[in-house]
Amino acid sequence: MRTPILAANWKMYKTLGEAEAFAGELLAGLGDVSGREVVLCAPYTALDRLRGALAGSPVALAAQDVFYEEQGAYTGAISPLMLTDVGCAYTIIGHSERRQYFGDTDEIVNRKVHAALKHGLKVILAIGESKPQRDAGQAGAVVVAQVRAALAGVSGAQMAELVLAYEPIWAIGTGDTATPADAQQMHATIRATLAELYGQATADAVRIQYGGSVKPDNVDELMAQADIDGALVGGASLKPESFLRIVHFQA
Ligand code: 13P
Repeated sequence: MRTPILAANWKMYKTLGEAEAFAGELLAGLGDVSGREVVLCAPYTALDRLRGALAGSPVALAAQDVFYEEQGAYTGAISPLMLTDVGCAYTIIGHSERRQYFGDTDEIVNRKVHAALKHGLKVILAIGESKPQRDAGQAGAVVVAQVRAALAGVSGAQMAELVLAYEPIWAIGTGDTATPADAQQMHATIRATLAELYGQATADAVRIQYGGSVKPDNVDELMAQADIDGALVGGASLKPESFLRIVHFQA
């Protein structure tokens, strides 16, 4: 039985005051979330403040990216050590916006995955194809290649610390969600790849989130799919009431 994992990815939004106000409203409306995992992926600047605001709550703190070195002359970078120090349980790695705007290649993603796991930082590994790749019938091959490259050298035991997030690029921020059936098909393909790499039992235990225009009005249908175990939510995670509705999806 996989515990559903609902994660907000704020991207480059929210000042300290806004982040704190959100946390207050989130906790006020959270209620009973036993049997679900709730994660807030915030900008680096808000992490310390959110650690305080979320203390004692079931909401886990997360970053949106991490560098692969522990410390050193890497101007502007944030290390896994710094993220665990500030109270992060997770970080996203491999988000398509990092790949597109910041040059993260599959090899860099793989190095980041190893660095995070080494420091006890759990990983939300994002993968997903572009529109031209989908139109060319390459979506499955692209995503499988991303999964294999990102996980090179990662052990079966380490997979317990890793969540995958399938985010088709054409569905991000567009309102153009993958149909539940299309998403399910890709999630099944990803799980089959994990089974090849690690065996069926490990593959069955790994959670695979869907991301890309997840909203209050489509989350129930998506979460009803056999291999969709959670959501990674951008735009609809910026308002507490909208993210709360997603957290409280109807199974
Ligand atoms: P949207 O929910 O805004 O489409 O963003 C999805 C995403 O990229 C989450 O990481």
